[in-house]
Amino acid sequence: MLGALGAWRALRRCASLPRAVRLRVREALGARQPADAVRVQGWVRSVRSHKEVLFLHINDGSSLESLQVVADPSLEKRDLTFGSAVEVQGKLVKSPHKMQNMELQAETIHVVGPCDIWSFPLKAKERHPLEYVRQFPHLRCRSNTLGALLRIRNEATAGIHSFFQDNGYVHIHTPIITSNDCEGAGDLFQIEASREAKESAEKTHFFNVPAFLTVSGQLHLEVMAGAFTHVFTFGPTFRAENSQSRRHLAEFYMVEAELSFTESLHDIMQVMEDLFKTVTSTVLSKCPRDVELFHKYIAPAQKGRLEQILKHKFMIISYSEAVEILKQAPQTFTFKPEWGCDLQTEHEKYLVKHCGEIPVFVINYPYDLKPFYMRDNEDGPQHTVAAVDLLVPGVGELCGGSLREERLPFLESRLQRLGLTDAYQWYLDLRKFGSVPHGGFGMGFERYLQYVLGVDNIKDVIPFPRFSHSCLL
Ligand code: 4AD
Ligand code: MG
Repeated sequence: MLGALGAWRALRRCASLPRAVRLRVREALGARQPADAVRVQGWVRSVRSHKEVLFLHINDGSSLESLQVVADPSLEKRDLTFGSAVEVQGKLVKSPHKMQNMELQAETIHVVGPCDIWSFPLKAKERHPLEYVRQFPHLRCRSNTLGALLRIRNEATAGIHSFFQDNGYVHIHTPIITSNDCEGAGDLFQIEASREAKESAEKTHFFNVPAFLTVSGQLHLEVMAGAFTHVFTFGPTFRAENSQSRRHLAEFYMVEAELSFTESLHDIMQVMEDLFKTVTSTVLSKCPRDVELFHKYIAPAQKGRLEQILKHKFMIISYSEAVEILKQAPQTFTFKPEWGCDLQTEHEKYLVKHCGEIPVFVINYPYDLKPFYMRDNEDGPQHTVAAVDLLVPGVGELCGGSLREERLPFLESRLQRLGLTDAYQWYLDLRKFGSVPHGGFGMGFERYLQYVLGVDNIKDVIPFPRFSHSCLL
């Protein structure tokens, strides 16, 4: 509640100021014309006080660059410090400095929220390492690096939606709570109402059946691909796997697409490649300064590598070829490469290096390694399914996809062997009523950002690192 004094001050402020146009920092910096009465709100990034003049830099998250405010030293106040929230009103004028277009000549400076600089973990003029700011999940969005990351994440999200919308896909909200384990890997988080399960002896599950947080929206997308030829979803997915690794999260975002009337894995790979290239070009052109920050301080040389990648076709090799390459490698691996075994991170890294540090599609994996829904290639004796993983330098697997088994007898016998027939009656129905060849893929959004920006730890590309030791956000 505003106290009487506060209310009076607010009223006085309003009464004494002309109506000023409120501008975001980004708008002010990009303005073509000077303007007489503008208002900018944000957080102070620097205060430099000289005898004749006071300089401030204000940032409001709309751009990496802050707006320079020039003021009479008489406007300086004790609580006008680094980190404080301010509202500045004045004239927007051409800046005499080469590095910036516009600056704000302050007439009034109001400190909306002071900041105790001694206990504030971010310090003026310091480039804090990612490991340091990770300790402050509630404050790190005010650092340059996380600010840039969040703007890039925002642009990439919009770019992904635009890519699919522009290509005629229908967006589907697939459920977060589900009873199916799409990938069959068992890395599930089970959910229960916290009270209900304890209160009722008969009712063991809230939904009467075990329910989980989704590991993938694929099966729900496949339902929709029986009515719409092109669908996609982009939402949170959850996996109870080792979340201490630099490329695994317990909660992450996945972009998934499903295409009907598709008989070739190459069609799926083409969409993956187009998605990657279109979204990356959008991000590079819409947030050049934000991306530059990563490519300058965190992953030097990544910019050139990305530009090359955008110009060239991704490579394609088969799983069997991949195993041969690994077997002939001059180095020894912790996991000996063998046909029929999963590719480990060390194998993925080697393959990408062997192919010249560019993204590589690995196709046609062993039948027994992959989930029940993948289409049988009916080859032998090395029996494979029409699966594809996209491997990228530094990260490993970025996308996973396949053709889906659309033939009822094949699917029935596979589900029977796995003892899953009852659970997947509804899925078998999709093959009974107007089944068509189809396929799709999923791309991990955080791994995408990790790769494009060259970030080593996946926890540095999410808005909130989970259960950080300093704060249980
Ligand atoms: O390869 P995955 O498991 O594929 C699926 O879930 C399919 N159902 C997708 C589909 O075909 N619609 O996961 C897809 C991608 C991986 O390639 C990886 O980029 C990402 O999701 N991913 C993770 N990202 C961060 N943390 C984890 N724990 C991840 N697990 C998978
Ligand atoms: Mg996979």
